[in-house]
Amino acid sequence: MDKNIVLLPGDGIGPEIIDAATEVLQVVGKKFGHTFIFDSQTIGGSAIDLYGTPLPDQTVTACNQADAVLLGAVGGPKWDQNPSHLRPERGLLGIRKTLDLYANLRPVKGFKKLLSASPLKAEIIKDSDLLIVRELTGGLYFGTPSERYDNGNSVVDTLRYTRNEMERIIDKAFQSAQLRKKKLTSVDKANVLESSKLWREIVEEKKVAYPDVAVEHVLVDAAAMKLITNPSQFDVIVTENMFGDILSDEASVLTGSLGMLPSASLAENGVGLYEPAHGSAPDIAGLGIANPIAMLLSVAMMLRYSFSFEQEAAVIEEAIEQCIDNGYHTADLHVENGIKVNTKEMTEAIIAAINQTV
Ligand code: NAD
Ligand code: IPM
Ligand code: MN
Repeated sequence: MDKNIVLLPGDGIGPEIIDAATEVLQVVGKKFGHTFIFDSQTIGGSAIDLYGTPLPDQTVTACNQADAVLLGAVGGPKWDQNPSHLRPERGLLGIRKTLDLYANLRPVKGFKKLLSASPLKAEIIKDSDLLIVRELTGGLYFGTPSERYDNGNSVVDTLRYTRNEMERIIDKAFQSAQLRKKKLTSVDKANVLESSKLWREIVEEKKVAYPDVAVEHVLVDAAAMKLITNPSQFDVIVTENMFGDILSDEASVLTGSLGMLPSASLAENGVGLYEPAHGSAPDIAGLGIANPIAMLLSVAMMLRYSFSFEQEAAVIEEAIEQCIDNGYHTADLHVENGIKVNTKEMTEAIIAAINQTV
């Protein structure tokens, strides 16, 4: 089956990990008789440099017509002093909003071989397997006004949500929990924030429709602590945009590295966008040593969620696991007696494992 995939490599290590994605997809396509047609478009800093905007119209048009979108990462020091509307991150927020990608699914699952790669104790993280369901198109990231006043001496950001925006992500989380261990932890700051009070009310209303799911409410500060002291208590965590951003980077520590954490950004019916949870890693960009696994696990999520290619997704995930079991790791992970490889070598090892399993 032909699938049109828009690639948004972006900045920093983005192009390096997108290369890994297309190489793996070509091999999987060949094995399973699919043709993946790639259309590379610009976003972020590289789009600013070429077209003077972080989200060119042609990028939006291409994404709207695609079967799925793969994004590397955006941002970097080169553009950090730009005015807000000319920051690379604006391109990412813009495409999320334009495609109405309100549901960001970030699965956090450790690999046995990497238990000692985490700074956390192995016995704490060994049974952790959770999914963060992050609201992605509302809250502080998008509320207006968001500006400076008084010659830059006072500022406002606006945290705005509608009931509908909360309802749809909470429904998504309940449904995700039904497919997993049937436990939902709703994370908020209902002891202080008005938005969190409405959020908690909606979770309470909704739970009646999902009687098979056990629900608990945890305040975000406590959730941050519990995530690294007893992560195995969690199954699905649902939370608003900014809390989800922060908690997911924290949760990546369970896997040993931010370079391991994939994500799917989904709309109600439209095209899905798949992106690692990490950023453009300017400190290692251009060195060829980025960990491609977050990107490749995001590719597997694309195959599963956008194309229903379950077997193809599983083959990639199993190949990754096999390579990790064999000791392969990039420099961001510390594996005793492992085989330290660069991005290309890791990708080649994963492709070799795919070729063996099919
Ligand atoms: P970052 O995620 O880019 O990097 C944090 C640390 O993790 C760095 O030490 C980096 O080297 C390491 N790291 C991240 N991904 C890695 C990988 N695949 N392999 C090996 N190491 C990896 O976060 P940051 O440094 O705070 O931000 C850098 C830029 O990225 C900023 O401009 C930020 O806005 C942007 N950003 C973009 C996205 C995105 O595009 N989705 C996400 C987060 C941050
Ligand atoms: C992420 C990133 C983005 C976010 C930034 C780059 C806008 O940190 O995808 O987690 O905060 O959503
Ligand atoms: Mn983030």
